[in-house]
Amino acid sequence: MRVLGIETSCDDTGAAIVEDGRILANIVAAQDIHLEYGGVVPELASRAHITLLPQVVQQALTTAGLTIDQIDGIAVTIGPGLLGSLLVGIEFAKGLALARGIPWVGVNHVEAHLVSAGLESPLEAPYIGMVASGGHTEIYHVPEPGVFRRVGSTRDDAAGEAFDKIGKLLGLPYPAGPYLDKLAREGNPSAVPLPRAKLKGDTLDMSMSGLKTAAKLFIEREPQPIPDARLKDIAASVEKAIVDVLVERLGQALTRYESRAVTVAGGCACNTLLREETARIAASRGIPARFPSPKLCRDNGAMIAHAGSFALRRGEITPFTASAIANLDSFTPLPV
Ligand code: KG4
Ligand code: ZN
Repeated sequence: MRVLGIETSCDDTGAAIVEDGRILANIVAAQDIHLEYGGVVPELASRAHITLLPQVVQQALTTAGLTIDQIDGIAVTIGPGLLGSLLVGIEFAKGLALARGIPWVGVNHVEAHLVSAGLESPLEAPYIGMVASGGHTEIYHVPEPGVFRRVGSTRDDAAGEAFDKIGKLLGLPYPAGPYLDKLAREGNPSAVPLPRAKLKGDTLDMSMSGLKTAAKLFIEREPQPIPDARLKDIAASVEKAIVDVLVERLGQALTRYESRAVTVAGGCACNTLLREETARIAASRGIPARFPSPKLCRDNGAMIAHAGSFALRRGEITPFTASAIANLDSFTPLPV
């Protein structure tokens, strides 16, 4: 089955073609317009999707050497995400589906991140998966293919948001995660004492806001401009604090739920220390740690096509009355 996947939930315009788990094309157009604002501007994002999406879909078809009539199904992100951005992808997918008589399905963006490592080699349930990106920090237990149970999530900022906001205070470009990662490689992670939030009660939830405030107060007291060596130490300390919170919860989830693997996806899954620490706790339990390659960690259409292909193979079709669900979570049933 050849599936066209469309992703427009935030500021990446993505289209991909996946045939039975094999990527034939995966095109992502990043919207540079947001760089000058230091964050995503929703209205600009939806406008850019309108311009970019038809070109990106055409490019995906050309790369795969296919025409639209050779596509068996269309999968599109239905939520969660920015409402205006989601609508562009959904209405485009619906129009194409209606005009060409192709079945279409709406896909949960977070669940698509979770299964993305499966595009590179089989990811067998049961497993524990974390999605850590600019918009999400969530832990799921996947007891069987296609069943996603959220078992923990951030109560405030996402991990990527913490990397980006603290990085901005350090004068790094947006998004700061990759720059902070690079600096941290040469810094001392114990140089700056930073808090790790301990939430009360029996929970796998996480919190990043205390860390962000502590980092802000700390950075404001530093002599400006911060010398290079000091910047590296701060970056390493911030990275360690964020990763400690994520990996502690991952470890607890692995203890609580039967799992044959652990996977981390989303933009932050590119982080060097997060990969090392996740691999370490997986090895101590004798299970594999699976990370999508960087191109599949960021938002992309291939993961949407892959996730949607499960539903399409089951013969599911989303009704044309369905629309964007900006705050979709794993507890919200998808429209059928
Ligand atoms: O999944 P993604 O491309 O977009 C969404 O937010 O959905 O994730 C982007 C996030 C940004 O916050 C970025 O700073 C972070 O992923 N990121 C990283 C690294 N690469 C990307 N954070 C830490 N270390 C990295 N190497
Ligand atoms: Zn995402």
